[in-house]
Amino acid sequence: MEIRISKTKEDLAEAFSIFFKSLVEVSETANVAVSGGNSPRAIFDFLAEHFGDEIDWRKVNLYWVDERCVHPGNEESNYKMTNDHLLSKIEIPKDNIFRMRGEDNPEKEARRYSELLSKNLPQENEVPQFDLVVLGLGDDGHTASIFPESMELWDSEENCVVGTHPTSGQKRVTITGKVINHAKAVVFMVTGDGKADKVREITRHQGDYKDYPASHVNPDTPDFIWFLDESAASELD
Ligand code: 6PG
Repeated sequence: MEIRISKTKEDLAEAFSIFFKSLVEVSETANVAVSGGNSPRAIFDFLAEHFGDEIDWRKVNLYWVDERCVHPGNEESNYKMTNDHLLSKIEIPKDNIFRMRGEDNPEKEARRYSELLSKNLPQENEVPQFDLVVLGLGDDGHTASIFPESMELWDSEENCVVGTHPTSGQKRVTITGKVINHAKAVVFMVTGDGKADKVREITRHQGDYKDYPASHVNPDTPDFIWFLDESAASELD
């Protein structure tokens, strides 16, 4: 595991964009899964605006780590966020975009996406293998849409399951621990001092870290990087 600390969120966006560009450059095809939430917004804006023309998006197949079970036009939709801040600004072929259908029945969509990943991605030990999985960190230590209250989902045999947000009850389709941990590269993108305690506990194996799904991200790859800004890293020595 590697920790890369950037001074500001914009510097983090640049560091991630350089990493992403180089990963695509060395790949024939880059199968990438992205997370949603708020953190990626400014990072996707930066990637599109400063690197959009430098990346051959025809090589990128874009998938999602998770999706809220809402219509794709809903402000809560991770697809909508990604489209607003990235897809609408880059030349990525429509056929390269594989969104989770948040508007469909959650269980049915989890099954469909599980099958899609098995069909579309190379398999390693019979598990679909992404070239890159981009994760966020919730301030409760969740990642993807696997929450501490439903840790059993992390070890599901399925590629995708239905998670439930512990306070809102919102259903979400999410990939599981085995898919995340089989990726060739996994990165966290974490900003803000609100996450600093969880970043410390998880990266330093302190406190209740074992209770956090994000602590179970442990891919067998040297390309496992925490991209942090100084605020999120403020409790690291
Ligand atoms: C989602 C994300 C989720 C996110 C964390 C951090 O659907 O919300 O996939 O895992 O990465 O909750 O979210 P913020 O970036 O908004 O803090």
